[in-house]
Amino acid sequence: MPVLDTDLVTKLFRKSLIVMSLSLAACGGSSGVDQGGDEPIREPMVESLKAQTDMPLGVAVPAAYYDYFSNDILQRPDLQDVVVQHFSQITAENIMKSSYLQPAQGVFEWQWADQLVQWALDNKLTVHGHALVWHSQMPTWMEQFDGDAGQWQAMLDDHVSNVASHFNGKVVSWDVVNEALSDCASANDSYCGDSAATYPYRNSVLYQNLGADFIAAAFRAAHQADSSVPLYYNDYNISANGLKMDALITMVEGLLADSVPIDGIGFQMHVDYNWPDITSIRSAFRRAAATGLLVKITELDLKMNPNGQNSRFTAAMAEQQLERYQQIVTAYLEEVPSEQQGGVSFWGVSDADSWIPHHTGHEDWPLLFDQDLKQKPAIEGVEQALITAQ
Ligand code: XIL
Repeated sequence: MPVLDTDLVTKLFRKSLIVMSLSLAACGGSSGVDQGGDEPIREPMVESLKAQTDMPLGVAVPAAYYDYFSNDILQRPDLQDVVVQHFSQITAENIMKSSYLQPAQGVFEWQWADQLVQWALDNKLTVHGHALVWHSQMPTWMEQFDGDAGQWQAMLDDHVSNVASHFNGKVVSWDVVNEALSDCASANDSYCGDSAATYPYRNSVLYQNLGADFIAAAFRAAHQADSSVPLYYNDYNISANGLKMDALITMVEGLLADSVPIDGIGFQMHVDYNWPDITSIRSAFRRAAATGLLVKITELDLKMNPNGQNSRFTAAMAEQQLERYQQIVTAYLEEVPSEQQGGVSFWGVSDADSWIPHHTGHEDWPLLFDQDLKQKPAIEGVEQALITAQ
């Protein structure tokens, strides 16, 4: 049983008051509209985040592919400096997904990912591999693959074994299967749409061709190609949707009962400044840890403008973001025993590169560094959480 730390409780209580008052300030009461505050946003001077923890502290970085992705980290020394200074691990934001690694059947394009991985290794950064099997960012030939279940499975196994073998010795962990679960609350949920028949799984091209068997098969193929690194199942909204978490736990327990080589659960954690509530987040971490598997935050970012209600990022919002980052990282460090902590990774370095505005359709400021790669107050929230846990 953890001992109750009264100092910590007092501190948390004080912090929750600050969060409440900041929420009101930032939201203008209940309207959620930015009502000003002209004071400048302060710029912290955190020396190095990674120096405050032994667990992997990661970040997703963009790399180029032919003439795509003009924000390629390999062309940006300023971005490289920030990554090396503060993080111990990278995830390729896109370049290791199937559409880039195998754009035509049997044609593997390694050079782009290889350059990125080499840069990481040269700079003493580890690499978390992302992602072997995912229904999205799949090459068209794979999506439209014409074959029976046996042929489909052989085609997927071939992708997984080629990729996991190629990076054997170079990556330290893999997201093996990404987003295989449905977001429905039940098979009868109206939100379920065409996923009703496949509940609790996502009605993806993978499920349509293979049922849920593709999940176990992917882990087996990955393990065969690289048995030395932890293999993760990765998904989103599992800290918000208790029913999705139920489905995840049932799935994981089934895989373990069948001796499938799964080692960890990845929480994407694309969350908002006020959603999900911290109780749900803590409960989800606790439940994942109770499986005995590793638990990793794989893609943390924090929307400050989820509904497009804010036209700019104010000093009050910056402090609110600090508190929320601190709250989430603290929850992870407290709920997941240290020997099960796979680490925390952020989905991008600077607000300028974040996928969130493209995803939500409006401006946002979800990350630890601003458009000019300057530190935002948020970075202090993460640093404080790491220091407190030491
Ligand atoms: C996103 C990238 O950040 C974008 O650049 C790309 O256009 C789409 O994919 N869950 C995942 C990530 O597992 O791979 C996604 O990354 C974000 C959601």
